[in-house]
Amino acid sequence: MRKILVTGGTGYIGSHTVVELQKSGFEPVIIDNLSNSNAKIVDLIARITGRKPLFEKLDMCDLPALQSFFEKHDDIAGVIHFAAYKAVGESVNNPLKYYRNNIVSLLNLLQCMEMLQHKNLVFSSSCTVYGQPDNLPVTELAPVKPAISPYGNTKQIAEEIIRDTVSQQDIMAISLRYFNPIGAHESGLIGELPLGVPDNLVPYITQTAIGKREKLTVFGNDYDTHDGTCIRDYIYVSDLAKAHVVALNRMLDEKNEQSHEIFNVGTGTGYSVLDAINSFEKTTGVNLNWAFSDRRPGDVEQVWADTTLANLKLGWKAEKDLDVMMATAWKWEQTLATGIMEAGG
Ligand code: WQD
Repeated sequence: MRKILVTGGTGYIGSHTVVELQKSGFEPVIIDNLSNSNAKIVDLIARITGRKPLFEKLDMCDLPALQSFFEKHDDIAGVIHFAAYKAVGESVNNPLKYYRNNIVSLLNLLQCMEMLQHKNLVFSSSCTVYGQPDNLPVTELAPVKPAISPYGNTKQIAEEIIRDTVSQQDIMAISLRYFNPIGAHESGLIGELPLGVPDNLVPYITQTAIGKREKLTVFGNDYDTHDGTCIRDYIYVSDLAKAHVVALNRMLDEKNEQSHEIFNVGTGTGYSVLDAINSFEKTTGVNLNWAFSDRRPGDVEQVWADTTLANLKLGWKAEKDLDVMMATAWKWEQTLATGIMEAGG
């Protein structure tokens, strides 16, 4: 089986991608420093697929450690790079932590990929590079706007580093610009694991519904949208995971048309915060305690993807709707309440 390195593979999107890689006959190898994830996820992946992926605890900013990993695994056929810090708010308060971790880890990875015979890279980028697009839906040709957070800036810088490196180093790369990944694997055995108080909407919804949080705050109801709340393109995490396998196969089959390709990975449909809340309540039967507050600084008013390029070139399209995303997110929150992530859980 072809070995695929998944950096950050015990994280939210990484773990779901490891499941899809195994289902597609690949041998994923996970490296993760566990700074924002739990090694227990490896066992839970095994419960889903029947195969425990190789996992090594490793900090990608430690170049000698990463080099010795690549010496040991010189048969890697492709790399999917998730490992990065991703909390927008934290990045504003601690920019150097974000620039150091997110950029140095990428630089080390690109240097180590030199050792490989097959240099195929799928990079986890983000729609934050667009800021507030001038036109919607937003296409890959839309201008990249000045980042509103150091986190978003690390994604822009990373895309530029990859763009400038690929031809010199004979690397093939595909950057996937995620919109808003939500939900959890249909088994309810893996999902989003926010540490502390969730920044993101859906884990806050499910933690409020389960009673871990007293009330959901809706940040702003005076936006120029159909109901005054912000609009996002929420995409089911397993659909997003599948897009990574499709992108990887595109390069393994040498079907990519440029050495660095960029694709929007969204559903093409935008939903407001109130749409999300209504979908959750309708799907789960749980009434949510929520209230409006002021806008959250830095929030984009509305953004959703033009997915024509991914549909056409990758032959990939998101399948699941908002109700499924909410139902799976709720199922995972209920799994967490059983103590599955505690030792011996
Ligand atoms: C969605 C909407 C909030 C929480 C960020 C990053 C992006 C990606 C996903 C990493 C907004 C509103 C939220 C709450 C609320 N992260 N909201 N109450 O900000 O679109 O994207 O997370 O890859 O890169 O930028 O996602 O889930 O935080 O917010 O009203 O308690 O929900 O104002 O309109 P966001 P989000």
